Amino acid sequence: FSATTPYTTLPSVLLIGPSGAGKTALLTLFERGPLYTPDAPPSADKPSVPTPVAKTHTSQAPSTVELAISTDKKTTTNDTNAASYRTDLDAAGATAKKFLLVDTPGHPKLRRHALSHLASASPTIKPSSISATSSETHKSKLKALVFVADAAALADADSGALASTAEYLYEVLLALQRRFHGRGGSRAPASVPVLVAANKLDLFTALPAALVKSQLEAELGRIRKARSKGLLTTGEGDGDEVGAGAGGEEGDGWLGAYGTEKFSFKEMMEFDIEVEVIGGNVLGEGPGADKWWNWIGERV
Ligand code: GTP
Ligand code: MG
Repeated sequence: FSATTPYTTLPSVLLIGPSGAGKTALLTLFERGPLYTPDAPPSADKPSVPTPVAKTHTSQAPSTVELAISTDKKTTTNDTNAASYRTDLDAAGATAKKFLLVDTPGHPKLRRHALSHLASASPTIKPSSISATSSETHKSKLKALVFVADAAALADADSGALASTAEYLYEVLLALQRRFHGRGGSRAPASVPVLVAANKLDLFTALPAALVKSQLEAELGRIRKARSKGLLTTGEGDGDEVGAGAGGEEGDGWLGAYGTEKFSFKEMMEFDIEVEVIGGNVLGEGPGADKWWNWIGERV
């Protein structure tokens, strides 16, 4: 009430996923543009990037950047750069939607911070490291979630990446599902759609997006089954209570539609949670990150 200029809170998009999947690399790409690509023509408008995107390191704390995305609905052909992060929106004078992209650390010991955002009825992000607004205490409304997965690691059966990636994704989806159940009164919380970004498709060993999807679904189903057995054995004294009431303690760890044998991402629609798997890459040759960028643009 004392401010002379009205403060608009930007919507936010959360980058989440296991360590090494490429979250920070993706944030850097969206922030700086693909200038690190060795064979790309140098841009006259933007300064060159001294540090290549490839030189990321394990994130210790969340970080946030402010981005703008064009609201002009262009024909979605693959080769148009019009709706891409490559476009300098200020120079183009395009109408742009601004949003915050929030990077989170993937290390298991540092995940609680990212997951804590998803628990509340109306998830908000407190931007922690925007230079200009670091002292602000305002909160930003979470609009979408990008779960970055390493499709090359998922292809390596011995790496344990499938199990650990699915474990984290299970936690993320379950948190969103609980949020849906936890809604008080008549108003349902605004849904938070999830993009599973199957990253590193530049590597020939990487699983294609369709396989990333089916393997994650199978593994999530396995986790679900294992957890429900765990519930049954620990809650032995309570007998039949498992899965009894909707939204109660029972079956609280059960992801998706109750009683289904195989898990599929479609089940999450029951809780108004859209899950889409799209392949891409931050580095090297491949489909790139345009589809992810467009997905985000449609949801902020
Ligand atoms: P944490 O901060 O530990 O949670 O990891 P992160 O998800 O932020 O991973 P980061 O962005 O640091 O990337 C990990 C490694 O993967 C880096 O060496 C990146 O250069 C590499 N990387 C990221 N994206 C790609 C990609 O599309 N292709 C290839 N080949 N490597 C990638
Ligand atoms: Mg990181």
